Amino acid sequence: MDVALVYNVKKEEAVDAASVAQPSSQNQHTTHTNIQVAPSADAFAEWDTIETIHAVRDALSLRHSVSLIEADDNAFNTLRSDQPDIVFNIAEGRFGASREAQIPAMLEMLNIPYTGSDPLTLSVCLDKSRAKEILSYYNVANPKFAVISSLSELQSLSFPVPAMVKPLFEGSSKGIFNSSLVHSQEELVKQVKSVVEEYGQPALIEEFLPGREFTVAMLGNGNELNVLPIVEIKFDSLPSGVNPIYSYEAKWIWDQSSNPLEIFECPAKLDNSLKTAIETLCRNTYNVLRCRDWSRIDVRLDQNGRPNIIEINPLPGILPKIEDNSCFPKAARMAGLNYNQMLNTVLDAGLKRYNLL
Ligand SMILES: Nc1ncnc2c1ncn2[C@@H]1O[C@H](COP(=O)(O)OP(=O)(O)O)[C@@H](O)[C@H]1O
Ligand SMILES: [Mg+2]
Repeated sequence: MDVALVYNVKKEEAVDAASVAQPSSQNQHTTHTNIQVAPSADAFAEWDTIETIHAVRDALSLRHSVSLIEADDNAFNTLRSDQPDIVFNIAEGRFGASREAQIPAMLEMLNIPYTGSDPLTLSVCLDKSRAKEILSYYNVANPKFAVISSLSELQSLSFPVPAMVKPLFEGSSKGIFNSSLVHSQEELVKQVKSVVEEYGQPALIEEFLPGREFTVAMLGNGNELNVLPIVEIKFDSLPSGVNPIYSYEAKWIWDQSSNPLEIFECPAKLDNSLKTAIETLCRNTYNVLRCRDWSRIDVRLDQNGRPNIIEINPLPGILPKIEDNSCFPKAARMAGLNYNQMLNTVLDAGLKRYNLL
């Protein structure tokens, strides 16, 4: 098969992806005089490093002939002329609230098969409130919420605290800091203001779920959908005094490859009934949102110990090195799939949907 790997590469490294031999590590924010510097600390947190892109290419190359296509302005023309048999899509997209849908929409237009969810599901999941509306319609548990779109709505704002304040359409912990958990109306207003101003997008306010947190890797489709071993996020490994949330600081600053936090436990220690409840919740979520091939779903327990959905990641992070502490590869490893096997299983799930296996 001719497989095209379509990706966005982190700006600090936005030199020719195919020619870079020595990638810098995920957590270093290198600045070069001739390369644009990130406007905020977390501006490119969603995009992949060269190291990840090369690791995915190498994995798929074990069985296929693989080309690299950057998801930039030229992507459409390149895809149209290359006509790969299938695209392995890890592109996070460029601008706007539906950015993750951009490459899949082009591929549908060109009638080229691709792995992962379709434009509709990718857009819905990136807009956390739209995803929650669908989940609520199907009675899939998720925390109560409100959306504040402009500063003029702040005057009448009232929401029970403690609450979480997040940008409406970000991932990779962008815009989620230790201060995102607010305990007073005053903090709430301040945090909403900072999201609206700094991220130029609505703020999602959510009931704070005080219980344990899990992230659940899902692999496959239909009757062959597998829930991989559940990962628990153990907040007691964070520096003392900080909030029990998986913030930008926890993900990218306090956890370094050179000094990894012992923050994940996989498989999570769960009694059978809670394990089944989490798995059922995640299967329902995956199905009602029409996720395809793979996704990673964040779950947290409410004050009654009941699992709730926090968010759905139809393009899960896949840092290749074990020290990078990436959850989807960790869960796959626990299920007996190494990094290369994990990626080829995703590709096979896609090929199978198109009857190309
Ligand atoms: N309603 C909530 N209650 C408790 N913690 C939350 C809630 N929403 C988010 N969090 C915390 O913030 C983290 C990041 O939020 P999430 O919506 O998953 O954003 P991201 O897309 O950046 O991963 C979660 O992993 C969790 O620790
Ligand atoms: Mg998350």
